[in-house]
Amino acid sequence: MPYRRASKKPEGLPTRGKTAANRLRRADNFILLYEPSLLSRMDGWFANSMFVDLGYGFDARTTLESASRFRRVNPNLKILGVEIDKERVAAALPFADDKTFFRLGGFNLPLQEGEHVRLIRAFNVLRQYEEKDVAPAYERLAQYVLPGGLMIEGTSNPFGSVWCANVARRTESDGLLSNTGNRRSGELKERDWRLETENQRLGGLALSRLEGWRFEALVFSTNFRLGFDVDEFQTILPKNLIHRVARGEPIYDFFEAWKRSAMETSAMKTYGMRQWFIATAELLAGKGYKVNLQRKFLSKGFLLWLFEQAPVLEQTGGR
Ligand SMILES: C[S@@+](CC[C@H](N)C(=O)[O-])C[C@H]1O[C@@H](n2cnc3c(N)ncnc32)[C@H](O)[C@@H]1O
Repeated sequence: MPYRRASKKPEGLPTRGKTAANRLRRADNFILLYEPSLLSRMDGWFANSMFVDLGYGFDARTTLESASRFRRVNPNLKILGVEIDKERVAAALPFADDKTFFRLGGFNLPLQEGEHVRLIRAFNVLRQYEEKDVAPAYERLAQYVLPGGLMIEGTSNPFGSVWCANVARRTESDGLLSNTGNRRSGELKERDWRLETENQRLGGLALSRLEGWRFEALVFSTNFRLGFDVDEFQTILPKNLIHRVARGEPIYDFFEAWKRSAMETSAMKTYGMRQWFIATAELLAGKGYKVNLQRKFLSKGFLLWLFEQAPVLEQTGGR
């Protein structure tokens, strides 16, 4: 599958480079729980495909930490750290080796001939952009990811104890490669992003209408160090949702339902935050939200709101 050669000038804006040791440990652990085979598969184009850490920050610590975590399941995994800031690339280069690369680049990933991407992690990158920049960035990135590959894109608090991320699957269709022709990143209009029909309304939440991606889940993660407070998650929503917690928006209804579920299960607090968190997820499912009830996620503080199909909700106005 050929990737589209993009212009060399990195697309995007240099932004603050703040990071922290182990800030993204839970994001890595989530991937290892969600789909470890994505890291280890070596079939076809995947054999020479990479994990890309887009926007790793002022130094490469999170990329190197992921390298050691992910290489427990695939010792030969190639890893590419991409930064739009030259000095940050220079700071990382001493840590490069024959399967760990650091390159200057932007949303137009700096891939070389024959390289492909199985997974992109973009954490705390788009939060510093405007909402209108999200869709073009996703569309551009789709051009490099193998069908079946994933992107996890989200926002965390400074130490990564609480985060929320979009999980998007690169679709089988390579319509993006063949259909968009000369369309350049940035040309996706905001009206495309504000969606109208029922399915599209879900897409407004879920990015599902973006060519090249099928939005799979919105993941809320907590290690419970800050306790459990649904409101905490509102402050670290990904950029496509952070300004959308307003009446009439699906994410608003979701938070209202989650807060109600937390109230209705508050007796569970006596058994600990984790049990309470699990009880809220079960109640959300009872209210019609398609959440993943597997204990392997919930007991570790991951709540997955799934989007394989439009959720059917019981309450009026809720979606
Ligand atoms: C806040 S840091 C996040 C670091 C790390 N991912 C984390 O979560 O701790 C954001 C980084 O993304 C980089 N960045 C912003 N836009 C980018 C783009 N389009 N391509 C590559 N890097 C980008 C910035 O230069 C900055 O270093």
